[in-house]
Amino acid sequence: MLNPLPVAIVTYPLPESWLASLENHCRLFIGPEELEKHIGEAEGLFSLLTLRVDESLLSKAKRLRVVSNMAVGVDNIDVAACTRRGIPVGNTPGVLTEATADLTMALLLSAARRLPEASADAREGRWTTWTPTAWLGADLNGATLGIVGLGRIGFAVATRAKAFGMQIVYANRNANEEAEETLRASRLSLEDLLRQSDFVSLHVPLSSETRRLIDERALRLMKPTAILVNAARGGVVDMAALHRALSDGWIAGAALDVTDPEPLPADHPLYRLPNCLIAPHIGSATRGARQRMAELACENLLAGLEGRPLPNCVNREALIRP
Ligand code: DGY
Repeated sequence: MLNPLPVAIVTYPLPESWLASLENHCRLFIGPEELEKHIGEAEGLFSLLTLRVDESLLSKAKRLRVVSNMAVGVDNIDVAACTRRGIPVGNTPGVLTEATADLTMALLLSAARRLPEASADAREGRWTTWTPTAWLGADLNGATLGIVGLGRIGFAVATRAKAFGMQIVYANRNANEEAEETLRASRLSLEDLLRQSDFVSLHVPLSSETRRLIDERALRLMKPTAILVNAARGGVVDMAALHRALSDGWIAGAALDVTDPEPLPADHPLYRLPNCLIAPHIGSATRGARQRMAELACENLLAGLEGRPLPNCVNREALIRP
């Protein structure tokens, strides 16, 4: 008798073409209801960042052999719990770098030039004449951009910012020689970066070390003219402290692609501040990036189902048996 195909669950309906490589390799169940029904027999799980893969889910997933997250961040997954069970966890680095860096620059430019406010004023009839002093924003040329976390995306943002004439400083666990040589970037402590930067852009993963890294103390170190950009994870910023910082003028503005919680409820006070731009976590939302993320997640899933090393694995130790 032929071996039956392994069961795999994709937790959200995606365009068929994005999942084409899975065809004929597994019995696929797609969508949240299928997750509930089939988690007990699933050998592969294709997850999104909105799904918590924690002890409670894993305890139901007795046959699970691979978790493949369609995201570079894996803070929705209890990776240690997967490792204890010998389950490799895949992610999708690289393929969303340029899209996310583009969006970061869009946030930075929009906040610097007060684009949401100016656009709303035009649309709502408050544009009565051209005036030399209305809607004045911040200059990018010559300004200092502080990058917190100089990984792939941070580096891609720094490269773009350099082309806008910005000076780059960065805070990172390790020095980045390439950035120092090619972009003339200088490495600083986080405190010095916050004190010196006109713009601060966050690019660290969310972990116990980075949760609320940007708290009241950090925000108070920033210049009153500075703008904070977050396209990493909402939990890196203390949202209540940010609200106070923006209302009381500790900093000039913020542009957030990510919030804590997500989605940010429609009645959240941050939406009422004209100096806070909020986007619904769209950093990687280009057709190309999202398709490549899905394809890479399929490659990771298939590798796990076939017992091969995942092309991108965050816990290689899961497969090493003591
Ligand atoms: C990721 O991949 O972690 C992003 O946040 C999704 O855009």
